[in-house]
Amino acid sequence: MNKLLTTLCGLAVASVTGLALAQAPAAPAPAAPAQAPAPAAAAKPAAAPASPKSVEAKVAMCIGCHGIKGYQASFPEVYKVPMISGQSAKYIVAALNAYKAGDRKHPTMRGIAESLSDQDMTDIAGFYESHAKDSGKTVPDKQSREPDARVAALLQKAACVSCHGANFAKPIDPAYPKIAGQHADYMFVALKAYKTENNPAVGRNNGVMGAIAKQFSNAELKALSNYISSLDSDLSVKPESRFR
Ligand code: HEC
Ligand code: HEC
Repeated sequence: MNKLLTTLCGLAVASVTGLALAQAPAAPAPAAPAQAPAPAAAAKPAAAPASPKSVEAKVAMCIGCHGIKGYQASFPEVYKVPMISGQSAKYIVAALNAYKAGDRKHPTMRGIAESLSDQDMTDIAGFYESHAKDSGKTVPDKQSREPDARVAALLQKAACVSCHGANFAKPIDPAYPKIAGQHADYMFVALKAYKTENNPAVGRNNGVMGAIAKQFSNAELKALSNYISSLDSDLSVKPESRFR
């Protein structure tokens, strides 16, 4: 945990709200059994099924970045932290495992993913997926905006919709990400990362997206990101109560 905190503090993450990450740790559970002396961060019996409280304690580490509207990361450049509320649980788990395995090199998220067990990932991913239902939005199959001719040609060149699904919001496999409505600056950083090789702190090794991203210039990736970000989706930033 100390190693993790050092990683977090060592990497400059700019907050537009001024909330310090130090405020994020889990509050001690109010109704903890009398004999439990430790705060909520203490290890829990692994076999117990997830209770709402334990999930809340687990996501306490995430909401300081993913639960604040407009929160920006500054590595490797300034961009908005990706929206994970409403994302598919299977994709969230796949992404966390990619950080844990080092296939995704972003240092802060690697440190965080390394601290999570499989059970933690499943619980946290279910929590964030459930926010899609909370939003009450139904995303239409038809794209809410048509691309211009240039972007339409780029989308067609790599058949993006064939995997990311109708409106880029209904992936053909739940382990693939919803990308409609995701922050454009984050998507641009993510797409460039699939092209980056031989950098210990930046890049994503992914057979599928690596081959695709390398077919495009950065200007083309930016145009794709801007268009896909402008579409309706059930991704959102859901602030948790203590930040409201
Ligand atoms: C210090 C800020 C910070 C904290 C705390 C944090 N994240 Fe992240 N997270 C980020 C940033 C920045 C990225 C984008 C990294 C990249 O470019 O790959 C990210 C990416 C992700 C992604 C990939 C999203 C996608 O669309 O592919 C997932 C999933 C994720 N985080 C889950 C979590 C979970 C779960 C927690 C808590 C256990 C957490 N994060 C805590 C900043 C943070
Ligand atoms: C063959 C299936 C396939 C095709 C075609 C495809 N993608 Fe992907 N895409 C994926 C998968 C799988 C991932 C998750 C990879 C990972 O785990 O990092 C992904 C990830 C992404 C991400 C990162 C999302 C995030 O939240 O971090 C973006 C952005 C993206 N794709 C955009 C595109 C665009 C734009 C195109 C067309 C130019 C495209 N994809 C074509 C399967 C595909």
